[in-house]
Formats: sequence, C-alpha cells, structure tokens
Amino acid sequence: RPIAQARFPHVATANPTPAAQRDGLLADPGFGRVFTDHVATATWTAGEGWHDTAVRAAEPLTLHPAAAVLHYAQEIFEGLKAYRQPDGSVALFRPDLNAARFAHSARRLALPVLPAESFVEAVTALVRADEAWVPEPPASLYLRPFTVATEAFLGVRPAEEARFLVTASPAGPLFAGREAGVTLWISDTLSRAAPGGTGDAKCGGNYAAGLAAQALAKEHACDQVLFLDAREHRWLEESGTMNVLLVTADGELVTPPLGTILDGVTRRSVLELAAGHGLTAVERPISVEELRAGCADGSITEVFATGTAAVISPIVAFRSTAGDVVVGDGTPGERTLALHAELLDIQFGRVPDTRGWRLSV
Ligand code: COI
Repeated sequence: RPIAQARFPHVATANPTPAAQRDGLLADPGFGRVFTDHVATATWTAGEGWHDTAVRAAEPLTLHPAAAVLHYAQEIFEGLKAYRQPDGSVALFRPDLNAARFAHSARRLALPVLPAESFVEAVTALVRADEAWVPEPPASLYLRPFTVATEAFLGVRPAEEARFLVTASPAGPLFAGREAGVTLWISDTLSRAAPGGTGDAKCGGNYAAGLAAQALAKEHACDQVLFLDAREHRWLEESGTMNVLLVTADGELVTPPLGTILDGVTRRSVLELAAGHGLTAVERPISVEELRAGCADGSITEVFATGTAAVISPIVAFRSTAGDVVVGDGTPGERTLALHAELLDIQFGRVPDTRGWRLSV
C-alpha cells in the first residue's frame, strides 16, 4: 500500500535552536557537522506499507540492538542540496533524479521503495520547516535522505520493518581550502565494486568498504582515492565520493560508463552542460595507462571530480605505487572552472533555469 502524495505534517520541535546560535553555526558550518532542528520521517512495515509520515524534532533514534541495519548493513541513502536564491526563496536541484536513484538503490538492497513523489515531498517539507537553516551562498543546506532496516531479527532476509528519514545539514564545501585542486591516490589493490555488486546503488556498505582505501590515500598525502575496476585493476571507476571526468585536447569530456559506478546527478548535469562549453560528452572506459600517457603528452588537459557534496573539484595530480602524474600545469583547468561556475549559477538561481533543473520549495 504505497502512500501516493503522502503529506508530511510538521510537528514543530519544542526546543528549536535559538536564532543567534543558529546564525553563528551558519556563518561557518563546515561539512557534515551541523544539523537542523527537524527530520522528515516515515515508517514501513511489510503488512501496512509506508505510514506515520511527519516532519518532527531531530532526536536520537531508538533501535533494537538486533535491528537488521546494525548487522547486515541494509541501508541506502541520498545526497542533495537546497540553495538560497537571489530573491530569498529556496530551490532544490533535480530532486527527481535523487528520487529515482533512491528507488533503484532500494530495489538493489531489498528495501521498500518510497514513491518518488513522497521522496520529493519529504525533502520539501523538511526544507520548509527548517527554512531558516538554509545558508547564504556559497554554502547550502545538504539533505541526507536514507532508509534503514529496523526489524529486530538476526536471520538473513530482507527486513519487514524499515524507517525512512531525511536529516539536513548546512554545509560549505567538502574540500574546504582545496580550491586549488585535490589529489587522488590510485588504488591498485583495494576495489570499490564488482560487476553484479552494489556499485551503482548508493548504500552505506559501499562507503564502509572504501574507507581503508581512503585511509591509504591519506597516508600518501592524497585527498581521496581513485578506484579501479575489480577484475583487472586497470579501468578508472570513481573516487570514493565523486565521479571522475577528463577533458581532452581535442575537445572531449570523457567519463567512465555506468555499471559499477554511481549515476551521479552532478556527473549527469555536467555531461549535459558540456556542449555549451565546446565539449563533446563521451562515456567510455578509460584505462590508467591512458590517464598516465594523456597527462604526460598533453592529450588530457584537465581532470575533475563531481558530486553533490564535492560539486566540481579540480584534480591536479594522481599518486600511485607506479609514480605520480600531474594534470596540465598542476592548477585547475579553464573548462573545469567554467563548468563549475555555470553549475553554481544554475543552482543558486543566478541564471534562468532553461532546463527545468530547479524546484522551488
Ligand atoms: C554526496 O556528494 O552527496 C555524497 O554522497 C558524498 C558524501 C558521501 C560526502
């Protein structure tokens, strides 16, 4: 019994954050540390479908110690942002794509599918309740919808009880202080995903499985890891939290094809913006040899990574056991910066929305 067009009635918290404290937090929120006063929530049970939809006070969750998510990681999540517009209103960026990916992830992790309209409604209702928490540009309100298996049961099968929540977090850039570009460690041993696995689902398990590689990247003074395919350790996949794209000297914007990587909303948007920047978007496999040779001979001129949290981050160098690779002159590329500027202009409402990408809250 799916809830079509479910409402998320607002039960206001009795103890909202005082305005002065909130404004202090909004002045420098960092990434992923500050949370708003409310959550949107819905409960699913096998017999009843989705019910008990609401926006209510953000409080610690009560879970039975045997809740399936704590043992078998039956969990999915999304990431999207609410942007303050020049007229003071608030807009979401392509939430329909997050809703569709969330449904895809739910099917892969054997979790209940939340109807797309309910997903968008939950997110919208939360942003309305916590509207005062939407910061001024360049910061935004990062929204984290997720579903967890809550059933207390240690047998291994899809849980018959789950909870959907959306938590909101005012956020600045993921790579603060790294505007001059980030470096990636090419992981030639640890992989993120294999064919038939969960690489194209946004589930917590993928991120847990990437943490050891991310720690290796840090040990090698890199900001993040670049994963290669699991079979040959040869083909570029994605970074732990971002998709990866290359600009070539002959005017292509090349990125690995979907399959074992996440179908990023920013990735897709940038591919759609490419033509306006004189670039032809190409989705094809890229080998690590091609990356090395292209950076060395100048046929690859720029590399950047995309993500909702990361937006567009220039990649200026790679490190690996086989040696370092510098991209271009080691500074952010022209196309990278232009795509970044256009994307932010669309998201923050500074240019007309010719593609219907903004949804007013
Ligand atoms: C996002 O960009 O929304 C992500 O999910 C990355 C996050 C894990 C930091």
